[in-house]
Amino acid sequence: MSNQKSSRISGFYRRSLAERAAVVAQWANLSTQEQAVLLGMNGLNASQADNMIENAIGIYALPLGVATNFLINDQDYLVPMVIEEPSVVAAVSNAARLFREGGGFTTSSDEPIMIGQIQVLDLPDIYVAAGAIRSNKDRLLAEANEIGGSIVKHGGGARDIQVRPILETPIGPMLIVHLLYDTRDAMGANAINTAVEHLAPRIEELTGGRVNLRILSNLTDQRKARAEGMIPAKELASQSISGQEAVKAIVEAGIFAEVDPYRATTHNKGIMNGIDAVVIATGNDWRAVESGAHAYAARDGQYRSLTKWWQDENGNLRGSIELPLALGIVGGATRVHPAAGLALKILGIQSARQLSEIAAAVGLAQNLAAIRALATEGIQNGHMRMHARQLAVAAGASGEQVARVVQTMIEEGSIRLERAKALVQEMTS
Ligand code: MEV
Repeated sequence: MSNQKSSRISGFYRRSLAERAAVVAQWANLSTQEQAVLLGMNGLNASQADNMIENAIGIYALPLGVATNFLINDQDYLVPMVIEEPSVVAAVSNAARLFREGGGFTTSSDEPIMIGQIQVLDLPDIYVAAGAIRSNKDRLLAEANEIGGSIVKHGGGARDIQVRPILETPIGPMLIVHLLYDTRDAMGANAINTAVEHLAPRIEELTGGRVNLRILSNLTDQRKARAEGMIPAKELASQSISGQEAVKAIVEAGIFAEVDPYRATTHNKGIMNGIDAVVIATGNDWRAVESGAHAYAARDGQYRSLTKWWQDENGNLRGSIELPLALGIVGGATRVHPAAGLALKILGIQSARQLSEIAAAVGLAQNLAAIRALATEGIQNGHMRMHARQLAVAAGASGEQVARVVQTMIEEGSIRLERAKALVQEMTS
């Protein structure tokens, strides 16, 4: 992706769907065939669906949007997002514009190391067993890599083995063996599951125990992504509140989510509005990402916020996010689902790590959008406008009628389907 292109596209949301699709097609150099995929004319077909899951009976579509204004490590991105909830894409684009004023996002990520778990039971001596695994580590790593596969060919594979005795359990002591496995550009679930299944008999031989489960962990805390950014206080000023007051209120909202699990859950839900939308758009496993994110949020024993917000020495707002993000750009649905491949193309993605860093930046921006609204005018204003829009469309409004119906219902304070229908009828007759 070239640095000359700017994702700061003002009034993008005011253009028609066809115009927006054309901007994105030009941005990512999409062929006519690829553009047809975006419009759902040539997307996932029934026979592809039939090969993806069992008992397939059809296809379930969701809106694909594009968030504008993202500047991440000095590079511009248009970010594809799949989501059914109104306001999310507009809010994150607006937040990305504010971060842009502070120089954009700075991101980083860990090497793509996944954890595979082997549960060993009925051990004659748990400490002797742990010692046997430690002293045979190199042999076990070599054996895990023996099965090969494309990840090993691309320079990934087994990196380390760790042992975790858990002494007090309702079924007695158990030894948990962790295989740390570099999955390169894949999410890597298949590779890691194959590797732990392959190692299990060897672990039984070495320990004299019995292996029960052999499966990856979705708490991928060796594979985290981080994003940080600054927003100049003056950018947060509005008619009702000064920039400094807004910074203070947003920091207060952030602290609320750090100390209270009830608030942290909703706060993190807002973060995942953005992250899941990118994860789904790129054909990744959002349940895996969700479970990892929430487990990580509770890592010190209390469920807390995944972001931090503070005022810097210049009085500006700063925020950061860190969470496990096991995302792939090869394998799984990433290349099978035609729209997922296109989402990666629109992003100009080169590596799985780059994708996870973008998702982290989106999570941070989405969180800012939510807590800024909550800490200032509240979110119902914007939501009611979107709700009115949906009602107008459901009532049959089209083209510029939609905006007129919405405006009238908001001015009258009556946002109801019957009123929308009556207005459409008045306008049409
Ligand atoms: C709604 O989908 C998400 C929010 O509730 C997030 C939050 O409260 O921070 C607005």
